[in-house]
Amino acid sequence: MLPVSILLVVGCLIAPLHGVPPIWSQPEQVHVSYPGVHGSMVVTWTTFNETESVVEYNEWGGKLFTLVAKGNATTFVDGGSEKRRLFIHRVTLSGLKPGSAYVYHCGSEAGWSDIFYFTALNESLEWSPRFALFGDMGNENPQSLARLQKETQVGMYDVILHIGDFAYDMDEDNARIGDEFMRQVESIAAYVPYMTCPGNHEYRYNFSNYKNRFSMPGDTEGLWYSWDIGPAHIISFSTEVYFYPEFGKDLISKQYEWLKKDLEEASNPSKRQTRPWIITMGHRPMYCSNADKDDCTMFESIVRRSLEDLFYLYGVDLELWAHEHTYERLWPVYKYKVYNGSAEEPYVNPRAPVHIITGSAGCREKHDGFIPKPRDWSALRSTDYGYTRMQVLNSTHLYLEQVSDDQNGKVIDTMWLVKDRHATAAWV
Ligand SMILES: [Fe+2]
Repeated sequence: MLPVSILLVVGCLIAPLHGVPPIWSQPEQVHVSYPGVHGSMVVTWTTFNETESVVEYNEWGGKLFTLVAKGNATTFVDGGSEKRRLFIHRVTLSGLKPGSAYVYHCGSEAGWSDIFYFTALNESLEWSPRFALFGDMGNENPQSLARLQKETQVGMYDVILHIGDFAYDMDEDNARIGDEFMRQVESIAAYVPYMTCPGNHEYRYNFSNYKNRFSMPGDTEGLWYSWDIGPAHIISFSTEVYFYPEFGKDLISKQYEWLKKDLEEASNPSKRQTRPWIITMGHRPMYCSNADKDDCTMFESIVRRSLEDLFYLYGVDLELWAHEHTYERLWPVYKYKVYNGSAEEPYVNPRAPVHIITGSAGCREKHDGFIPKPRDWSALRSTDYGYTRMQVLNSTHLYLEQVSDDQNGKVIDTMWLVKDRHATAAWV
């Protein structure tokens, strides 16, 4: 046994080492995303020590873990003072049977996650996918999360779209807030594809927390990409390229050219016939009637000036936005003018794109307010915390409803968007 005096010295030497992370090979922050390839799903998770990247899985109801897929891990060094190192694991499951449920866990021989399940996306053009969509959800005050957890786990949604602004902010406390947020959303994101776009709260260290933690289709680190589901083509893009030129002015033209090409392909008559709905998601809206000085409150909004004509030209049907911590449904609008289908049925064959702003999921910044008198193009506004449900029923009918968390899940707005014609033919 060591003399007491030596033990004390050893104790003093050890003390400053508190705060050093433990050896940690346990998987956490598990989430899935659709890579845009039929019959595939990507499983992403985090460890704090380097391990292998393995997913063991099987079809629901069968013997557990009969299938194995391996992937790899990338090292993410956070930009904060501690330069924390995270290992982000990605494994692509392929050859999945469309519409079949799968059970999985992930990790390695050094530690396995809990068991989760997901349903491989149905690939039929006749399928009617159901979405939950929202933006601006934080680690603190995530008002909508409990309801989303329950609804996702009982199978109400096929996909979740998070339209920018995560955690508030993922980089804070040397990215520990990002870790905690990803642990919180595991309860929804490990069960259905969690599809994202970047918001302003992700900007630090050149969006590195966003780029590293999510696994979106394509090769742009999730900044812009598109994918197909049922009768819809969904385009996700970054409004932030217009506001953070320090990370590359060229991103504006790169993204614009990509959007143009993607819209051209999606609008090809044979493609549009099979997937007639073109839906965009971007964080900062073109229009809003909030009482702040955000871009969307300005007549010459940068986002509107940059993209409205392009989206109109290719007949985008629906534009989903967030950033304002409110819900706002717009009448069909182009260049500030309302183009309702008719006075009685504004959303039946509208003659311009429809915009929805849904950034009220809940975060530490609480609500935003509205200007007293709505603009002409504003159809309905709510400051309740909540989120949006969307179902693309078929080639002509799309349904949206807004859920109020403040009113215990009450549906406070509904909209049927009905289109016999898509593309620019619809605007005539
Ligand atoms: Fe925002």
